[in-house]
Amino acid sequence: MREKQGKIDFAILCMPCAGDPTLRTLPETVQSIASLLSATFLTFAPALSKNDFPMPYSKIVALGHHVPETVITNQYLSTLMDTSDEWIIERTGIRERRWMDPAKDTVANMAAKATRMALKRANLTEKDIEFIVFATITPDYFFPGSGVLLQRELGLEGIGALDIRNACSGFIYALSTADQFIKSGMYKTILVVGAEIQSTALDITDRGRNTAVIFGDGAGVAILQASDKPGVMSTHLHSDGRFAEELYVKDPGSSRPHNERQADQILDTTGYKVHMNGNMVFKHAVVRFMEVINEALTANHLKKEDINLLVPHQANLRISQYIQEKLALREDQVFNNIMRYGNTTAASIPIAMSEAWAEGRVKENDVICLAAFGSGFTWASAIIRW
Ligand code: UT7
Repeated sequence: MREKQGKIDFAILCMPCAGDPTLRTLPETVQSIASLLSATFLTFAPALSKNDFPMPYSKIVALGHHVPETVITNQYLSTLMDTSDEWIIERTGIRERRWMDPAKDTVANMAAKATRMALKRANLTEKDIEFIVFATITPDYFFPGSGVLLQRELGLEGIGALDIRNACSGFIYALSTADQFIKSGMYKTILVVGAEIQSTALDITDRGRNTAVIFGDGAGVAILQASDKPGVMSTHLHSDGRFAEELYVKDPGSSRPHNERQADQILDTTGYKVHMNGNMVFKHAVVRFMEVINEALTANHLKKEDINLLVPHQANLRISQYIQEKLALREDQVFNNIMRYGNTTAASIPIAMSEAWAEGRVKENDVICLAAFGSGFTWASAIIRW
């Protein structure tokens, strides 16, 4: 850039200001001044096009989702294990969830269907997508990840695809990653995905009843584009690996010795099934959800009453209700659909956002707060100005 023209030193000073994450915490007027300065500079520097500079924000321009057709009711689960509709509703709020049909559903093809919904809603085509960030802990193969399978499914030869493995916080981690790529100027349109098939790893016997009743399958996506208006205002990412084994699937773990990892008997162990210390996860979840939401509000100089819609990861209705009560939010300020889909891990937030948008619950200029907690432990939040 420095080689192009004399006035370019000015751009070097201005543009980092416009994209500097610390500025996101300053009032929007300051952001506007930064944008104005860069626009003014562009006017007086015809040798440079707007494409030479990163835009200060990324913005969600479309949402989409897809869930398998097969509905699994609490009543059906009570025929497989010692549980009941009453227990599941009282402890989790879940009434039914969707489970994959092996003849039809894969993580990648559910994500492709969700993507096509989003593209249609935004009047975009596959060719507009420059990069894929795919959050899943249940990829179709042990490797490669699902990002490349989605890239193939969408016919987007050659574009980059990145998998993120941060469980229930995965979608916010993916959103944050895409946001940085856009703000750096590397890409202008990124497909951000959360998709999971948990059902096939559940222990659907009495032994696994505390997890089997919770999880469901599905996919949700957001299309993120460079914008001179906000936007994703900030994202906040955390982890604490001391609790990794409180919610995990152990196998096929590469740390197992050769004779164990490849032994047929390994299939007889429970290592391939989801293990969760539900109580421990619950106790950490309620604390971390509150912390990370408050962190996001503080970073943006917002108060809890400024939130137009909180979209929490759909872990347990009791967790969402606890947060709602602690933040003194009204019912219409929190979006929940766990009743119909259960906990779909990384897919839960984009599915919920897509439904909230379709129901008219997200309006221009609204402050949307996303928050998640899950395996790792990991937890995360985001503030979005719609
Ligand atoms: O998305 C990732 C993050 N995940 C979460 O945030 C999940 C957090 N945890 C939870 O949502 C809850 O801990 C669960 C829903 C998993 C369990 O609810 P709980 O109120 O914590 O129940 P509990 O594990 O303390 O179990 C209470 C009783 C036990 O029986 P006893 O020992 O009191 O006789 C369990 O054996 O409920 C029993 N139980 C069940 N009973 C009927 C556990 N699962 C079931 C079941 N049906 N499905």
